[in-house]
Amino acid sequence: MTGVLAVAGGTASGKSTLAEALSLRCPDSVALIHLDDYYVPAHDPLRGVWTVSASGHAILDWNHPGSIDETAVTDAIDTALLRPGVLLVVVEGLFALSLPSVVRRAGWRVYVDTPDDIRLARKILRKIEAQRQDPLLSLRNYLQTGRDRHAAHVAPSRAAADLVVDGTASEEEMIAAVMPLIGPTLAPTPAQAQAQAQAQAQGACPAARAPGVPAFAH
Ligand SMILES: Nc1ncnc2c1ncn2[C@@H]1O[C@H](COP(=O)(O)OP(=O)(O)O)[C@@H](O)[C@H]1O
Ligand SMILES: [Mg+2]
Repeated sequence: MTGVLAVAGGTASGKSTLAEALSLRCPDSVALIHLDDYYVPAHDPLRGVWTVSASGHAILDWNHPGSIDETAVTDAIDTALLRPGVLLVVVEGLFALSLPSVVRRAGWRVYVDTPDDIRLARKILRKIEAQRQDPLLSLRNYLQTGRDRHAAHVAPSRAAADLVVDGTASEEEMIAAVMPLIGPTLAPTPAQAQAQAQAQAQGACPAARAPGVPAFAH
């Protein structure tokens, strides 16, 4: 039975890292949906929620769930659920536990919890490394809107989680923490099991790994 795993958490908490690691381990049976790919067009002032950036420009508010095209996301989930071979659809993003139509579809709800100071440091580093963005801008955006948006639209969704994963744990430990939830869904049929046993011998999908679980209940 195919299921949906929703992975939420603050910016730079480790959501994509966890979701991509799951997908890499089980590339044939896991479909991955990044909410980051489903913002409304950033150039259409009639859609989404707008704000003023620290540089003084009106921009789409990337930290507001109203800037996500929820219909497009649900279409993508429903399409992925029907894809042959897919056993698990992982939906990851800031608002995976805030968008009602995603939450409704999610059989399992995970929140990656990472202290704000670590998230901010990771985010600034990422902006410098990936875009050479002036950290002054990142810090001003955080103080101006980012911090409040997290408190209003992301942090409260932690209460909707079945499992809270420690985002400072290693990638392996995060995967082990969610396996007790999704392991049965990824459990193969006898024919798949035989093929998977061969693949696992070569270090592939760890669906049957015992949990080492640095996770904590909310
Ligand atoms: N468990 C972890 N331990 C250490 N660094 C991590 C961990 N998870 C993610 N990171 C790093 O933090 C940054 C943000 O991770 P990412 O998964 O992209 O966050 P998100 O998708 O939640 O915004 C990346 O540079 C990533 O390498
Ligand atoms: Mg991400």
